[in-house]
Amino acid sequence: MYLGIDIGTSAVKLVCADTDRILASSSVGIQSSSPQPGWSEQHPELWWQATRDALTQLAGQIELSEIKAVGLSGQMHGAVLLDRDLHPIRSAILWNDSRAVQECEELRAAQPEIGHIAGVLPLPGFTAPKIAWLKEHGPDNYAKLSHILLPKDYIGLRLHGELATDASDAAGTLWLDQAARNWHAGIAEASDVARDWLPQIFDGHSGVGTVTAQAAAETGLTPDVPVVAVGGDAATGAVSLGATETGRGFISLGTSGQLFVADRTYKPNPERYVHAFAHTLPGRWYQMAAMLNGARPISWIGGQLGLSAAEVVALVETVRGDRMPIFLPYLTGERSPLGDPYIRVCFFVLEDSTTRADICRSVVEAIAFCFADAAQSFGDTMDNLPELAAIGGGSQSDFLLKLIATVIWKPVVRSEGADTGPAFGAARLAAYSEDAITGADLAFQLPTANRFEPAELTGLVERLTQFRRL
Ligand code: XUL
Repeated sequence: MYLGIDIGTSAVKLVCADTDRILASSSVGIQSSSPQPGWSEQHPELWWQATRDALTQLAGQIELSEIKAVGLSGQMHGAVLLDRDLHPIRSAILWNDSRAVQECEELRAAQPEIGHIAGVLPLPGFTAPKIAWLKEHGPDNYAKLSHILLPKDYIGLRLHGELATDASDAAGTLWLDQAARNWHAGIAEASDVARDWLPQIFDGHSGVGTVTAQAAAETGLTPDVPVVAVGGDAATGAVSLGATETGRGFISLGTSGQLFVADRTYKPNPERYVHAFAHTLPGRWYQMAAMLNGARPISWIGGQLGLSAAEVVALVETVRGDRMPIFLPYLTGERSPLGDPYIRVCFFVLEDSTTRADICRSVVEAIAFCFADAAQSFGDTMDNLPELAAIGGGSQSDFLLKLIATVIWKPVVRSEGADTGPAFGAARLAAYSEDAITGADLAFQLPTANRFEPAELTGLVERLTQFRRL
């Protein structure tokens, strides 16, 4: 059997799978800290501890000695900063941290072609501007810096002792030349990074090293088991759904939201903040609209009104009129398609007759409107997609999927067993690396559980037009 490890932002998740099904899973929650508004950090030791705890849980379900290979996935864009002894210098600065705004402007001025080379325009969540920020605001730490890793690659370092990453995680740093799948010296220099601080880049299905005796003693894994590079959570989540070939796409409705389409060619489209990134497999790329707010506004409004997410969704379906407000759902700024770290939430217009059901409805509609904007920013890439699979917590709402199908005018399907995520994708790539499954097996299609066709919904298109004007 094959182990997939996903270093998520809210939990470390583990999945053990054989060639086609999940045999065991475990999850250990982790906290982020926000020492200042807009900052988001986690100490790499927290990930290692949570990985060990999750392995202990897994050992209660299966024999860890039966694991034949380990694959790594995790949150993208985080800056793990190591000194020359390979120890973390400080907490890692995460993908949802927005401190490095100024540094993005400087990087764009220094490298005007960056959007076409690195597949996306600079935004504070990406790794590169965080280093330029550290040089300015943490010179003592910057002086100690000798190596930079992505979050999952720190767990790789602890397991096999190598400094390594894969193309799909390197893709989210801004330092990768996406077409060449290699580090770009000019962009590294423009963000105050020495070329030899960056790790070696592997294909996602390549073995990087094997579990060391020390890691085996700390985790219960068997020494010398291969550890496979795998990928960032977006690309590896795609692998868990078989989205590895041109025209295979999905939408993800979690804490963040994504519209993702795989491709055999590199198609940069930086003006609308679409991310054109290397996929985890060689010769493949993907386009992704990354929405920072995803389905989270549902739990946010629920929290304000004392309702659970399920109650919010149920309430929304009771609305009959069309005098609800228009909601802008940008709780933490937005990446695609606005590229605006400062934009925030707003309701237009609340009036005497507005009910809390109207408010909830406007929040759920806004989530769908963000996907309409994302689909619009993809241009003709969308034409080749017969349908889109939906994953993540928000995909449990029939109503939301119906809204999305309508505003993007394309069927949306909920697949059976789709919610396994990047940990399952990592286990599959570990199996592929060991030749236990083929490339064709990787591009499998899950059976459809529910299908949502575009429908005429009263006033929806008019409200989308108003949303776009605001
Ligand atoms: C992708 C992205 C998120 C993070 C956290 O661009 O920002 O998927 O990787 O999950």
